[in-house]
Amino acid sequence: MENSVITNILTRRSIRKYKQQQIPTEVLNRILDCAVMSPSALNKQPWQVRIIQDEKLLTDVNDTFIRWAKGKQLPGSASRAQEEGFSVFHHAPTLIIVAADKTNNYAPIDCGILAQTIMTAAHSLGIGSCVIGSMAQATDNDKHIKNDILAIDDDHTVIFGIALGYADETPIVKDRDRSKIRLISYRQ
Ligand SMILES: Cc1cc2nc3c(=O)[nH]c(=O)nc-3n(C[C@H](O)[C@H](O)[C@H](O)COP(=O)(O)O)c2cc1C
Repeated sequence: MENSVITNILTRRSIRKYKQQQIPTEVLNRILDCAVMSPSALNKQPWQVRIIQDEKLLTDVNDTFIRWAKGKQLPGSASRAQEEGFSVFHHAPTLIIVAADKTNNYAPIDCGILAQTIMTAAHSLGIGSCVIGSMAQATDNDKHIKNDILAIDDDHTVIFGIALGYADETPIVKDRDRSKIRLISYRQ
């Protein structure tokens, strides 16, 4: 069975190499129209979402991560944080920061669904994306960036970023374990 939604879900990949061409504002706004329609427990929408496209601010957020990462043994691409030219959000021209309401137990789930909505909508419009979990703590710890610049309240915690931009790579599909998902029935 195929349709455009299924094809879109099956062909999305995390993108870690971006063209520097910025996303048109109307495309970004359409993605955000979809984001806001994400389901959330009791429709609380327990998030604060901030979009960064300003080059200086992107550099400051990345520098914050690099400083925070110094001396830490981090997994994945974050392990290369001290290398020249490193970008925790893979040099994407647009970075979405998602902060979750600390007082709402469902907030991390709701924010995860929001992320998938953003990434699926983005992919359908030809925009690549990647969730950046590794930058959460560094961004949340930097009071100046979190509170003063991003205007994220103290009762919210930054839980991930989402890199967005035109893909400059075509990653192969990563392995999935279908056996983790099972149909259970009394009758065989
Ligand atoms: C919560 C979460 C955190 C992630 N953090 C990072 C990250 O910090 N850096 C990164 O390059 N990819 C990150 N990813 C992307 C995953 O590595 C990727 O989704 C996974 O390897 C599957 O690959 P695919 O998205 O191409 O199917 C994250 C994904 C999720 C859902």
